[in-house]
This record gives sequence, structure tokens and C-alpha cells, in this order.
Amino acid sequence: MVDRLKGKKALITGGAQGLGATIGRMMAAEGAIVTLTDRNEEGARATAAALNAEHGREIAFAFGHDVTDAARWDEVVSAADAAMSGINVLVNNAGIAVMGSVESLSLDDWDRCMKVNSDSVFFGIKSALRVMRDHQPGSIINISSISGLVAGHNLAAYNASKAAVWLLSKSVALHCARLRLDIRSNSIHPAFIKTPILNDLSPKGATEELYEKLAKQVPLGRLGDPSDVGHAAIYLASDESRFMTGSELKLDGGLSAS
Ligand SMILES: NC(=O)c1ccc[n+]([C@@H]2O[C@H](COP(=O)([O-])OP(=O)(O)OC[C@H]3O[C@@H](n4cnc5c(N)ncnc54)[C@H](O)[C@@H]3O)[C@@H](O)[C@H]2O)c1
Repeated sequence: MVDRLKGKKALITGGAQGLGATIGRMMAAEGAIVTLTDRNEEGARATAAALNAEHGREIAFAFGHDVTDAARWDEVVSAADAAMSGINVLVNNAGIAVMGSVESLSLDDWDRCMKVNSDSVFFGIKSALRVMRDHQPGSIINISSISGLVAGHNLAAYNASKAAVWLLSKSVALHCARLRLDIRSNSIHPAFIKTPILNDLSPKGATEELYEKLAKQVPLGRLGDPSDVGHAAIYLASDESRFMTGSELKLDGGLSAS
């Protein structure tokens, strides 16, 4: 299918690589205009440039932004608004994996995880709603994790940060509905997807051995592909999901089913 996202203008955080870059590429292939932001500005610019070259016209923009920088959010949202003539899709995707149990984690690790994974989503929604209310219908897509719904002994901060995103998404959905804004808010909960973030799950990095170990935890017996998340994001961004708000999509190969 093509053009499922015609007329959609998406701001995607963490767009330099991994899921953010894939979501940007797949949304653009469905007719959306995208703005990719990342603390890795060069990476975001390279990804946007590749999309523009592929499409033969300017359909992707990029800005450097550390999502924990609350003060810069309004600036970035205004820049994306100006570049795309509006924003009607926000994908809060930027995130980090922080390993550690409640006893091994330092307060610094805890704070860093909360700032990047949860606080940024609050900042982003607060700032983007200002523009999105003028470009309805809209869709807010928050990339949580299966770890926001299922805990691990050594994921205390990550679990807590992603669980916060899960319920914040629902609170935002109810807030928008109450105001009769046609802006939906949902979360996506992937399990292990092959992206560079998996490097942070083991001291040795993402080796074949790690992939095999992780795949064994998944009932389907394999890791996810970034496009699995891209397809879900396209559905949530499109008007096909117009009756879906305050909900969650689990992409976990069955991991949370038992
Ligand atoms: N890959 C998985 O297995 C998996 C599973 C569940 C959830 N997730 C979530 O998906 C999202 C994307 O992860 P990914 O797998 O693509 O990881 P990744 O490490 O490949 O990409 C993350 C991107 O976010 C950017 N980023 C990190 N901190 C930032 C900050 N403070 N400000 C701006 N940009 C920042 C990085 O520069 C990078 O480009 C994250 O929120 C992650 O928690 C991933």
C-alpha cells in the first residue's frame, strides 16, 4: 500500500538510527513528511538526506535535539512546524537502555534513565500539543517497551521509566478526548528488536550469542525487526486507527502472553 499517510507530518525523536530512522523511512514511504531529531545531529541529518535523495524531493528534515533539554523543545517543535507546515503526528521514540537492579543502580543512572525515557515524553507532548491542536486529526505515538509492562530483576530504572510512558500515554488520551481534541495517544511495547540498543544489554555488546539468548526468551523464537515497529507506527499514525486511543500495541513475539 502507498499513501496511507498522505497529508501526515510527523516529528520523530531519536531519528538518527534504529527504530526512529526506520519509522521515519517507512512513514515517508507511505506519503508522510517527517522531521527527525536526535542528540546525534549528524546522524539525523544523514538519515534525512538519504530519504530526500531516495524520494527526489525534500520530504525529510532534521534537527539536533537532546530530548532531555526541556527548554529547547518549544524551539524544535516550532522549527518542525515551520519546516513541514504543521505537525499532526508525534513519535516519542528516543530512549536508552539502563541495566541494573534496585540495589546496583546509582541515583545518577536512575535519573538519567527517567530523564531520557520518561521526562522527555512529558516535555514533548506538552510542547507538540500546542501545534497539533491546529492540525487535527492528530496522533501521539509513544515508544514504551514490553519492559514497561513486564519487569526484570536487573531493569529497575528501565522498567519504571517505560511503565511511566505507558500510563502517561493513557492520561494524555483522556485529556485530549475530554477537550474534544481529535488527537489520539497510544503506546507501542516492543520486545527485543535488532537495533544498536541491544549493545547495551551485555558487557560484550550485541553478539550472535546474545541474540540467541534473547531469542530463547521469545515464544516465536526470534528477535523482532525494526520494520515490525514501523508497521505498528504507520497504523497508529494513520486514520485507520481513528477509534484507538489510550491503548497499547504489544510487539513481543508472545513474550508477555504467559
Ligand atoms: N530495540 C529494542 O529492542 C527495543 C525494545 C523496546 C523498546 N525500545 C525502545 O525503542 C526506542 C528506540 O530504541 P532503538 O532500539 O532504536 O535504540 P537505538 O539506540 O538504536 O536508537 C536510539 C536513538 O535515540 C537517540 N537518543 C538517545 N538518547 C537521546 C536523547 N537524550 N536525546 C535525543 N536522542 C537520543 C540515539 O542517539 C539514537 O539515535 C527507545 O525508546 C527504546 O527504549 C527498543
